[in-house]
Amino acid sequence: MYLTDEEKEMLDGKKGPSVKKSMEILVALGESFGAKRLIPVKSVHMAGSSVVVAGDAGTKFVEDMQKSGGEFVTKVTTNPTAMDPDKWRDIGISDEDHELQGRLSDAYKNMGANTCNTCTPYLVGNTPRFGEHLAWGESSAVVFVNSVYGARTNREGGPSALASSLTGRTPEYGFHLKENRYGKILVKVEADLKDMTDFGTLGYFVGKVAGQDTPVFCGIPENPSLEDLKALSAALASSGSVSMFHAVGVTPEAPSLDEAFGGKKPEKTLIFTEEEKLKAEKELDKEPSDHVDWIQIGCPNASIEEIKEVVKELEGKKVHPGITLWVTTSAAMYAMADRVGYIKAIEDAGGTVIRETCPFLARTTQFAPEKGYKTLTTNSAKMAFYAPGMFGLPAHYGNLKKVMRAATTGRWG
Ligand code: F3S
Repeated sequence: MYLTDEEKEMLDGKKGPSVKKSMEILVALGESFGAKRLIPVKSVHMAGSSVVVAGDAGTKFVEDMQKSGGEFVTKVTTNPTAMDPDKWRDIGISDEDHELQGRLSDAYKNMGANTCNTCTPYLVGNTPRFGEHLAWGESSAVVFVNSVYGARTNREGGPSALASSLTGRTPEYGFHLKENRYGKILVKVEADLKDMTDFGTLGYFVGKVAGQDTPVFCGIPENPSLEDLKALSAALASSGSVSMFHAVGVTPEAPSLDEAFGGKKPEKTLIFTEEEKLKAEKELDKEPSDHVDWIQIGCPNASIEEIKEVVKELEGKKVHPGITLWVTTSAAMYAMADRVGYIKAIEDAGGTVIRETCPFLARTTQFAPEKGYKTLTTNSAKMAFYAPGMFGLPAHYGNLKKVMRAATTGRWG
């Protein structure tokens, strides 16, 4: 791989051991994918921010990089951690985990990260522009920024994202290259997409077939909301390994079908009918009984509009006794929601707003059995898809209204 003189110096250790180690990681990665050179990145989003993912070894690796002089040279944000900063004991985090999480977050912060601890960094200041090269982890955010903003990133793992943070570089391959960003699968959307849950269901349906291929949607409503596109992105990256999508007339690299496919013919065509929508919903809504105990809203992290919707659905009502309602969000969104009274409204009604973590990144496999939870009820296709396999909890899956009805009645359906 071609390296500039400055990059050669980095690799030779002239800029310290952390930079040297980082260059070794990036060069090995680039060579394995046939990259011709490294390119500068505008920002990094770090996925390995929870100790549930990083563990002792990952935490030590990050600490060692910091202690040997590592400093971030680009904008860096962090994914959710394993704990809410105030309610960590209530969500089953041990003193040991609390201490370990503190060490990991401090190491990132000391190297210069904005520890926003959210999977929606694009809502809180890390908002890329068209064509910018990034090195982001967190699959849902990768799909969102590649597709909705037209920024360019591969799905980075923890070590490669850390290496890019310390060098400001990433190998040029995959989604950094225009020729790899064209669509392969045509998806004709005939079903009515009424809310973000329908967008999530569409993402789940397509992800199952697409694998790593890029879908091109035709027939999506012209002005989908940010929440709709967030749900679609997350679901595509859950049932599949999709890194970007095009929506004709909606996303910036798809002004026409022809341009989305780079002048080529689709390799496959899918049709998303009302019937397919119902079928996909049923696949995600796995729990056969009407039993409800744990409810989660905010995967990916809830926007201020979603929190507002929860408040609206709770107006004049209370969360049913025995039901735990979690609304998961970022610290920044929490502060905004607090200012306008949404946090108080939700908590007065018996719900809990959890920030900076989510069921996926907390110690759910220990916490859920301790609490006696038998199901997870959610409006997120991503969460419903993962809950049975990751936490052993079959999911109830439906739109926000239906989920909130379960929260206040204590029953599903
Ligand atoms: Fe975010 Fe956790 Fe969902 S990281 S995308 S809320 S699984």
